[in-house]
Amino acid sequence: MVELSLHVLDLIENSVEAGAKTVRVSVRESPDENAIHLSIEDDGKGMDPDLAARVTDPFVTTRTTRKVGLGIPLLKQVAEASGGELRVSSEKGKGTTVVARFCRDHIDRPPLGDMAATIAVALATNPGSRFVYHQEGPGGAFEFDSAAVAEVLGDVPVTDPAVVQWVKQYLRERIEQAQGGGSF
Ligand SMILES: Nc1ncnc2c1ncn2[C@@H]1O[C@H](COP(=O)(O)OP(=O)(O)OP(=O)(O)O)[C@@H](O)[C@H]1O
Ligand SMILES: [Mg+2]
Repeated sequence: MVELSLHVLDLIENSVEAGAKTVRVSVRESPDENAIHLSIEDDGKGMDPDLAARVTDPFVTTRTTRKVGLGIPLLKQVAEASGGELRVSSEKGKGTTVVARFCRDHIDRPPLGDMAATIAVALATNPGSRFVYHQEGPGGAFEFDSAAVAEVLGDVPVTDPAVVQWVKQYLRERIEQAQGGGSF
């Protein structure tokens, strides 16, 4: 995978599969620290300590269709290859948080990619879940909450193509603003 947003989509899928009602994604660009901080937090079923400790190992999965789980280990590898790190904390019955740090200016750090599309797709394919997206950077901070959108829409489903398009466009504009005009 070449873009961080695709890894995020993969981790959101883990959260949804774990029965999360709310998934919170946060991207924090800090040029001062030369860092990009990423976190995906859910209130799904969580993992027992043993699985949580081993989940960054590429041979751990609770899948039955194939033996190797790659979502988390892949992102860990990408983070470490760019001088950063990835950590998983999880509590059974409470939820899971994955945090990753990337060296912003490292040559091997993948671009952020289309995070607006990632969030829009996650929402469109999982209308039962709430997604909160937070981004901050040199241009400021913003937060998008799909629950607020659902409230405004009333009976119109968040899966309506016009709504998905609107969400994507809205996020693109706000993300660009937070990045202060540039992109990473
Ligand atoms: N957010 C989460 N909540 C609860 N369990 C999780 C979460 N994320 C991962 N897990 C557990 O860790 C295992 C490994 O996750 P990982 O994403 O690495 O692989 P996978 O989802 O099994 O397969 P793949 O992502 O390659 O399709 C999962 O099978 C699941 O049991
Ligand atoms: Mg997965």
